[in-house]
Amino acid sequence: MCGIYGYLGEYPASDEILRWLRRLEYRGYDSAGLSVARDSGDIATVKRVGRIQELKNAVDAIGLSDGRVGIGHTRWATHGGVSEQNCHPHISYDGRYHLAHNGIIENMSELSAKLSAQGISCQGSTDTEVATNLYATIASDDPISSLRLFTSKIEGAYALVFLDRDHPDRLFGAKKWSPLVLGFAEHGVYCSSDRRSLEGICDEYVSLEDGDIFVVRSRDDYTIVNGGVQIVRDREELSGEEIATELGEFSHFMMKEIHEQPQVVENVFAGRVNFETAEIASPTLKALAKRDISRIVIIASGTSYHAGLVGKHYIEHLSGIETDVVVSAEFKYSWHRIHADRVYVFISQSGETADTLECMKLVKAKGGYAFGVVNVPGSSIARLSDAGLYTHAGVEIGVASTKAFTGQILTLLLMALALGNARTLPHAEYAYLLFEMRKLPDLIARMLARSDAIRTVAEKYASYQNFFFLGRALELPMAQEGALKLKETTYHHAEAYSSWELKHGSLALIDANFPTIILNADGPLHAKNQSSTQEIHARSGPVIGVISDRADAALYDDVLRFPETVYELVPFVQVVLLQLFAYHMTVVLGNDVDKPRNLAKSVTVE
Ligand code: AGP
Ligand code: GLU
Repeated sequence: MCGIYGYLGEYPASDEILRWLRRLEYRGYDSAGLSVARDSGDIATVKRVGRIQELKNAVDAIGLSDGRVGIGHTRWATHGGVSEQNCHPHISYDGRYHLAHNGIIENMSELSAKLSAQGISCQGSTDTEVATNLYATIASDDPISSLRLFTSKIEGAYALVFLDRDHPDRLFGAKKWSPLVLGFAEHGVYCSSDRRSLEGICDEYVSLEDGDIFVVRSRDDYTIVNGGVQIVRDREELSGEEIATELGEFSHFMMKEIHEQPQVVENVFAGRVNFETAEIASPTLKALAKRDISRIVIIASGTSYHAGLVGKHYIEHLSGIETDVVVSAEFKYSWHRIHADRVYVFISQSGETADTLECMKLVKAKGGYAFGVVNVPGSSIARLSDAGLYTHAGVEIGVASTKAFTGQILTLLLMALALGNARTLPHAEYAYLLFEMRKLPDLIARMLARSDAIRTVAEKYASYQNFFFLGRALELPMAQEGALKLKETTYHHAEAYSSWELKHGSLALIDANFPTIILNADGPLHAKNQSSTQEIHARSGPVIGVISDRADAALYDDVLRFPETVYELVPFVQVVLLQLFAYHMTVVLGNDVDKPRNLAKSVTVE
């Protein structure tokens, strides 16, 4: 699931792998390893639990400066604990094949039982080691025919890169469902699980497709086969954003990315909105608005799912088109039938989330129209979309998604306005919202300036173990996102509810040690949220009010204030506030803000 970096060329392979594997660190991992074919003919393998720096120290200690071919891996454990034994590359029982794998081999138990019957057992407990041993039992000297046989026996998701001790002049592997690209530089060729990690290193790349198997011998000598047929895949030029690794004035990427949100808003508007004429000029949105749409179905995971819930509110209120939002993990096995007159919107920061990607493939296979709202250009979801919009948030490194959410909800708001404008939304309302939206960069900047005040409250509550996040209507998905941010980075337990739903059971948990954060923007639900606050107070529960500058603070134990804006734009300031709250509490607790335990940035397994 995490990262693969292979190199074959003129430079020392361990240097290349260690230097560039760092670019995949942001995806979250628990251990790292590499295997390099040394000039002596041996293969050196080094593995470490923890950070790439620890792996580098271990590599430096043995002085691994020779060897021009190698594979490296950052692991996010799916099968078997976090240990050096389970770390990749795995080595086959006969010592010949080394394998770096992203993904999950689903039939590992069955394969493992068959191997055991042949007297071949594993040292650790990963699916990857089983696969490595299986490959060794069936491989011949021809990697293409061996991989064809091998991939017919394994099930699941994989990006695989093998190094063969007896043929250390080549790398070979296969791809299904997990991303893998070949990158070409003057001095050699790379295999990477993240195209963007090759920016500035390679000038061209080839994106491997599901079912591809490949052998690489040099930048000009490589073979790709799919379904038994040799394929010529076009090399594409690598241009775009490098994965930024500079923190600038910030201590963490999460904080840096929170502060980039005014710019994200500008990016989403650029070329799409003409504020002078109050017009949404995007050809993609104009074309979408002309479609005869019976219903919209939004499919996404995690933070992107929460953005979808905000989007539902915008689309239904502004365009009148009924909208469902389904978590990707549930859609595939749900009752949903695919209809040609519906639009299926897939929201994903990474564009690689396997749960979402699989739903997209299913929708497309059944004739559905797939619209992508994606951040990473050229990612799998972006490539598969019938049409779509990029969210232009730039590279997001912090595992906890922040600025991507803002790009997503703003893109969805533009979509809702474009759809509404082509339907029944009064022009005055449309133009007024656009007028207010123009102020968003400034509004968010004003919210960011309150970071210190938010830290004070976050510090006060850092020692509590449980939190409720409450909100209603448009504020409910914001409560859900606030709770997710807090869980991800502080490891505190947090649950989100509709404010009025609490009394149907969960109120029983409230006592003096169970604080509630209630989102209570000005509007028709303000007084009702105040009643919910009273109910919690009556059970001795502390309440933090997330309220606008003009709201009355008297009711709450503490308040977190946001600058006033129109109701539809409240999510843009509330989300920044909630991100800062989670961030500051995490720093107080001393957790790794950018790489929370157990999580990966891009979840490329189902
Ligand atoms: C967000 O903070 C999480 N790391 C996670 O929920 C994420 O939003 C989810 O995995 C979906 O990812 P995607 O947007 O890249 O598809
Ligand atoms: N399933 C493999 C393991 O647990 C690979 C995980 C990954 O993609 O990092 O080792």
